[in-house]
Amino acid sequence: MPRNAVMDAREFELLRDLIRERTGILLGPEGARQLERRLRERLEFLSLASFADYHRHLRFRAEADDELQHLFEAATNNETYFFREDYQLQGFRDEIVPVLAADLHHQRRLTCWSLGCSTGEEPYSIAMTLLESEALVGWALHVVGLDISRQRLAAARKGVYGESSFRCTSPQRRARFFTQDADALRVAKEVRQMCTFGFVNLVSLHERPKFEQPDAVFCRNVLIYFEPEARCRVIEAIYELLRPGGYLMLGHAESLLHEPTRFIPVHLDQDVVYRKPHLASAPPKPGAHGRKGRRR
Ligand SMILES: C[S@@+](CC[C@H](N)C(=O)[O-])C[C@H]1O[C@@H](n2cnc3c(N)ncnc32)[C@H](O)[C@@H]1O
Repeated sequence: MPRNAVMDAREFELLRDLIRERTGILLGPEGARQLERRLRERLEFLSLASFADYHRHLRFRAEADDELQHLFEAATNNETYFFREDYQLQGFRDEIVPVLAADLHHQRRLTCWSLGCSTGEEPYSIAMTLLESEALVGWALHVVGLDISRQRLAAARKGVYGESSFRCTSPQRRARFFTQDADALRVAKEVRQMCTFGFVNLVSLHERPKFEQPDAVFCRNVLIYFEPEARCRVIEAIYELLRPGGYLMLGHAESLLHEPTRFIPVHLDQDVVYRKPHLASAPPKPGAHGRKGRRR
């Protein structure tokens, strides 16, 4: 029976609500078939007859904490590639890094976080972009990649990639930042040494993961899948985590324009990013909005 188990509408709602509570992700009705397909083998493994039984197992069995990890893997989208939204990485390198370099010249140390880093292409691209900046030559540069998926974090630590990860990587960057590893390409040691990976559930970000305080946070193509309230809480937690004067970069389809936020929008040549002021301000007033940006 579980081999062909079908998820009915009620079962989907139960699992959707559990996913929303635990991760912030809000699946639309189109997510039902994906969840059904990805979780069938879990029913089989646990000898459960239905998705309603699986939901009961996850919610009420003490040993279900490990199983929740499978639910998270099934609910998340891991699409990513090197130098995705490169216009933003270039804006970061050419317009933001010089400001950060001036701010931090006394310590010559810069830390970036990639939240929802998936299989690592984004944090490695950030590290490569930092290496391209003349303002940072001789600096201690560190990129922290964090994700809820332990499988994707394991792939990120390996740093070995197939062709689909390179759809936006120039031949010059391939030659400079990768080495050939059998049929695949491996991120060069110089870049891997700059990067650390760890687990985070963004809905618990306010508990402050034990990594160096970030000067810049990239949280791209993650919050777009979140319910509005959870998205606001994550943005607020990022604000608290960031060093004053630090920056937040979101994905091209994401914006803070309609969120109450203490971040200040910063207009780059081709993008809008967000800055935590040097003098941290009071919590946002309900309904307070940022200014309209160029691309968003
Ligand atoms: C579509 S990928 C984006 C990868 C990369 N940021 C990019 O733009 O190419 C979304 C990632 O967010 C992660 N994610 C989703 N919900 C999360 C949560 N609550 N906490 C931490 N990571 C989460 C997923 O596991 C997935 O790896």
